[in-house]
Amino acid sequence: MTPAVASRMVEGIMQTTSAAVRNWLIVVAAMILLMIVLGALTRLTESGLSMVEWRPVTGWLPPMSDAAWHAELQKYLSSPQGRLVDRGFDVDEFKQIFWLEYLHRLWGRVIGVAFALPFAWFWLRGKLSPALRLRLLVILILGGLQGALGWAMVASGLVDRPSVSHYRLAAHLLLAVALYAYTVWLILDLGGSSRRRADSGTRRVADGLIALLVVTMTWGALTAGLRAGTSHNTYPTMSGYWLPPGLFELSPWWLNMFENGTTVQFVHRLLAHLLVLGVLLLALRVRRTETALAGAMALLQLSLGIATILSGVNVGIATAHQAGAVLLLTTLINVHYRATTASDGSRARAVATWA
Ligand code: HEM
Repeated sequence: MTPAVASRMVEGIMQTTSAAVRNWLIVVAAMILLMIVLGALTRLTESGLSMVEWRPVTGWLPPMSDAAWHAELQKYLSSPQGRLVDRGFDVDEFKQIFWLEYLHRLWGRVIGVAFALPFAWFWLRGKLSPALRLRLLVILILGGLQGALGWAMVASGLVDRPSVSHYRLAAHLLLAVALYAYTVWLILDLGGSSRRRADSGTRRVADGLIALLVVTMTWGALTAGLRAGTSHNTYPTMSGYWLPPGLFELSPWWLNMFENGTTVQFVHRLLAHLLVLGVLLLALRVRRTETALAGAMALLQLSLGIATILSGVNVGIATAHQAGAVLLLTTLINVHYRATTASDGSRARAVATWA
């Protein structure tokens, strides 16, 4: 066999390996996105505090008998939400809120298995370079942390008041988004260097917009956690005011940015408009498919935000609004990636090959 033929064969095998790893990660990223949607539904239907224990290994089965359901209901009725909000719940009513939280936790376990088993298989077969192993380990660690943070969030709603800490809710959403974004980044890195160009200007603007998006999402999550979307249900003004009264009700003034529902909603709207403006300007100045896609997604997300507020946080619309934020992030990561040259991405080629 000539060296040229041997080298082509090795290249072919490497491409097959990275395609298999990439396809697996695409499935994992789609599963994480679905998990984020399930999380929004769980929160919006007030289901998140229905399971008052955390049994990460043994708790994957639901109650299996009438007696077990009654025991589970009793535990719930002694929690703050059960005591203060759902006092009169019977088993059938309890099941309605139980199933979504159960599904949310079960799906987390399924993602864990769908990630860990192929990871071990690829590793044992020697299909992963040391750099790729390291990046996949980061995903595994972030996933484990996300489970623990989810429980820390639920635990904050089991002490005295029937709602979770809005800071922990925001942290839980942001870590989920970080996990998703990191996986998407790895998928793009494994995809080769086609359709990329050196454009550091666009790359820097995309980075700035990604940072602004993360801050906007944080204030979105605080709005959701404080249930601040159920007031000021008008647009473009807030209850008829461009600057609603009560913006600086709390003292010291900066506390309003985090704890005052009116101010938190105001900041979220303000950041969102700046973000949409920035993405649209980018799409107008740099006319490429990926920037047009980001511009279109920004407009869709703006419409979903407006619909969320006008509907007084309709469950379906607010869920779509949360998913839309993640899709907007995906389009901006893509803009950044396409503006990075193959030589900038040599790190990418290093991870795409086997050991
Ligand atoms: C265009 C950029 C926007 C982004 C990236 C964005 C992102 C988000 C995110 C991530 C959440 C948290 C969802 C959750 O934790 O369940 C959220 C919540 C919310 N957003 Fe936005 N948003 C945007 C625009 C808007 C606009 C323009 C409005 C209103 C005019 C708006 C109103 C709301 C409301 C009311 C909530 C709370 C919904 C709830 O309780 O579930 N958003 N947003």
